[in-house]
Amino acid sequence: MTTVIINGTVVTAADVVEADVLIDGETVVALGSPASGMRETWLSGADRVIDASGRYVIPGGIDVHTHMELPFGGTNASDTFETGTRAAAWGGTTTIIDFAVQTKGQTLRHGLDTWFARAEGECAIDYGFHMIVGDVNDGTLKEMDQLVDEGITSFKLFMAYPGVFYSTDGEIFRALQQTGNNGGLVMMHAENGSVIDQLVVQALARGNTDPKYHGLTRPSTLEGEATHRAIQLAKAAGTPIYIVHLSAAEALAAVTAARDTGQNAFAETCPQYLYLTDEGMARPGFEGAKFVCSPPLRPEEHLPHMWRGLRTNDLQVVATDHCPFCFKGQKELGQGDFSKIPNGLPGVEHRMDLLHQGVVDGKIGLRRWIEIAAATPARMFGLYGKKGTIAPGSDADIVIYDPTARQTLSADTHHMNTDYSCYEGWEIQGRSDMVMSRGRVVIDDGAYVGAKGHGSYLRRERCQYLL
Ligand code: URP
Ligand code: ZN
Ligand code: ZN
Repeated sequence: MTTVIINGTVVTAADVVEADVLIDGETVVALGSPASGMRETWLSGADRVIDASGRYVIPGGIDVHTHMELPFGGTNASDTFETGTRAAAWGGTTTIIDFAVQTKGQTLRHGLDTWFARAEGECAIDYGFHMIVGDVNDGTLKEMDQLVDEGITSFKLFMAYPGVFYSTDGEIFRALQQTGNNGGLVMMHAENGSVIDQLVVQALARGNTDPKYHGLTRPSTLEGEATHRAIQLAKAAGTPIYIVHLSAAEALAAVTAARDTGQNAFAETCPQYLYLTDEGMARPGFEGAKFVCSPPLRPEEHLPHMWRGLRTNDLQVVATDHCPFCFKGQKELGQGDFSKIPNGLPGVEHRMDLLHQGVVDGKIGLRRWIEIAAATPARMFGLYGKKGTIAPGSDADIVIYDPTARQTLSADTHHMNTDYSCYEGWEIQGRSDMVMSRGRVVIDDGAYVGAKGHGSYLRRERCQYLL
């Protein structure tokens, strides 16, 4: 099946050009200037012609931080791989990297097999896995080498959540050293979990049980401290490090300082830290639970720092940390005790559009939008070339994006499996009209036309910034 996309403006991290795109089956074959004379030849042999007049032709988004079905906080994240990848497609994302989990006492292999079984045959778009290392020991460290060889080239460790995912500094150091040898990349949840736990106990003892105390017991200082410490541990181990879901000015300062001295310190932020504030958690009644995630939403003054980090490349990636829970029956588990509210927000569907709104608002440029949402995520996690761009040989993961369309975000119209939206009633500009995954149309004019199981597992290379 040959497809030609004509009359669109192709936007990649490198270029904004008027170009036709020729696709053969699952793969982009060529880009051509409309004036080059190739158009007639391409059109005469085409099975399908897509007219992208007035619209952008962009590489599909890559969300490198999702948690479909994650067992967490006494329940499970409410999107399955089926519903979550469908919602991602609606929003112009064509690849996710989710987190397989090793729990204490289990092997990495056991965790990985569990996640493979959950995702296989379910996904609408392509998917890969990082591995959460919840139990650092001699066996786990050896297994990390094997996983890197099998295309699982990144490992998340936690300085938060003692008793659940938490690792000590010594354990983290050993894992960092291991990636120094095997070429993997450690991804760090950087919050000082031991101190946070003390603050939580103290708050509850004072009768401070409302959702807003989630934010007050996880202050930005403790994210800044942990981020600094994680980066120093990586420096001592002589390895790169990637900080996940960075939310605080202090944490960004630690990343910036390290990068300024030439250290390979990378970081991602998320749309919620660009747009939402701690006021969400202070909503009356128990409404604030809808905004509970970790790190928590920050006071307003942190937000411009996140946008600045994206402009200056001290933040290189925007991912969602999509970890959805319904208000009814899930967030409600924390009524009377904020520490029992399942941590996480829905977001996989809105990342591309919220970042495009950043372009509309003049906060980032058009190419930068694609760089932070597709190209750099692909490079960071070993997918670039195949994913993250539109070029000869790349997968035909392509979005026809209308930059002038207006849409109102709401739980009534979104496709994520949650009964609320953090952006209820927000009006934004821009929308994916058509979404293609490896040449197959999965979203057409707002309608899902894809298929469960179309998404393939992606075996990843090592971080392409380090090769
Ligand atoms: O609140 C969050 N972020 N939930 C998901 C787990 C994590 O730490 O990424
Ligand atoms: Zn985390
Ligand atoms: Zn996460």
